[in-house]
Amino acid sequence: MKLAGKVAIVTGAGRGIGRASAIAFAKEGARVIVADIDRSESEATVSAIEEAKGEALFVEVDVAKESDVRFMVQAAVDRWGRVDILFNNAGILLVKPIDEMTESEWDRIMAVNVKATFLGIKHVVPHMRRNGGGAILNTGSIGSLTGQLGTPAYSASKGAIALLTKSLALDLGRDRIRVNCICPGITDTSMLREHLGHGLEGEARIRARLSRVPLGTILSPEDVARAALYLVSDDSAGVTGILHVVDGGLLAAAEFDQPLEG
Ligand SMILES: NC(=O)c1ccc[n+]([C@@H]2O[C@H](COP(=O)([O-])OP(=O)(O)OC[C@H]3O[C@@H](n4cnc5c(N)ncnc54)[C@H](O)[C@@H]3O)[C@@H](O)[C@H]2O)c1
Repeated sequence: MKLAGKVAIVTGAGRGIGRASAIAFAKEGARVIVADIDRSESEATVSAIEEAKGEALFVEVDVAKESDVRFMVQAAVDRWGRVDILFNNAGILLVKPIDEMTESEWDRIMAVNVKATFLGIKHVVPHMRRNGGGAILNTGSIGSLTGQLGTPAYSASKGAIALLTKSLALDLGRDRIRVNCICPGITDTSMLREHLGHGLEGEARIRARLSRVPLGTILSPEDVARAALYLVSDDSAGVTGILHVVDGGLLAAAEFDQPLEG
């Protein structure tokens, strides 16, 4: 088992990529803090882990609040005595033109996506130092590397996470704390479905997007979770400061438009 004896915190583990990752980490032997603002979704994640004979604890948290983040980290230490892995996965998306965006909408995106990443790292680092190291995985997006239409605040937040990752990889390397960033492409989660719409119209928008993806398929949360597992396990022991893109090839081309068959 790749994570035997390890304690992992996964934020936004109630659904989507976070849930798939929490389950993947637990199946590899990690004890997992399922940290999320949504209790009922998270209880389903905890049940799935327990059904797979893993160990998990739900902590209700708004990752944008320092008091909640401090409590989340302490919960891991109180229950299992250590923290080895932090997956800063919770995030929110807002599709809105810049001239219609309110100050509070901008601030909320930055708080949940960027400030929360800072807060999580701030509070786990002392524990990781004491353990002699750790693995931190932040969540960017293809929007960390290139512009995206209609999502200026989201893209700015994901760009910030990319350089926070690289800077902290330098600062924390001597402590044997690795800091990496996963950058998913089009992944089939509630966030994507809420963004592109449900029903036939939503399906049509997804198909249009997938025509720009060389592999031609939507990613599953489990596809991203497998890459996350690599980045938090010793399989990536020599890797820090990278932006690990999981996008079916989307960013490989300046131009690519191949309609899906069927
Ligand atoms: N789905 C995609 O196509 C895609 C692509 C690129 C990047 N991402 C990124 O991956 C991450 C996960 O995305 P997803 O698609 O699984 O999203 P999702 O919306 O399906 O799940 C996000 C989870 O985060 C939780 N959350 C939101 N705000 C929170 C807060 N303030 N405190 C605690 N928990 C909170 C939600 O309750 C939810 O359980 C996000 O950072 C997102 O930006 C997703």
